[in-house]
Amino acid sequence: MKKVMLKLLSAAAMVGMIATSVQADEAAMAAAGAEVFKRCQACHSTDSSKNAFGPSLIGVVGREAASLPRFAYSEALKKSGITWTEDNLRQWVADNTKLVPGTRMRHVSISDIAEQDYLIAYLKTL
Ligand code: HEC
Repeated sequence: MKKVMLKLLSAAAMVGMIATSVQADEAAMAAAGAEVFKRCQACHSTDSSKNAFGPSLIGVVGREAASLPRFAYSEALKKSGITWTEDNLRQWVADNTKLVPGTRMRHVSISDIAEQDYLIAYLKTL
């Protein structure tokens, strides 16, 4: 019985260790994403839900496109019917004017998958 308990305890400890390292990875990814986000910061504020030149990106992951009430979105984005899933965010940062022709957002092109991963990890923290 004791042996079984010990085994269970060590299994639990291992799960705990794995969980901790996953969290550490996510934190490191988000930190790297904050660097990538410097290319977005001029237009998107992150310290509040205020809109700047671009709409606030707080809570953007999972949000419907063009859904903030106090931002003057382009007709193109309003009609896009997009939800900001991870996949759509990837396509957006890779080539926003291709995903939504006619968007008001200046063209960005982050095609590096790792950079996209970092950026999305960071956006999730907002
Ligand atoms: C030059 C200013 C500018 C830069 C730089 C910029 N954006 Fe934008 N962004 C905008 C504007 C303006 C809009 C609104 C677009 C529209 O209405 O068509 C927008 C919209 C968005 C949206 C849609 C939000 C919503 O509420 O639907 C996302 C997501 C987004 N930007 C992410 C980014 C990311 C990530 C970067 C950096 C890689 C970035 N933007 C860089 C100006 C900018």
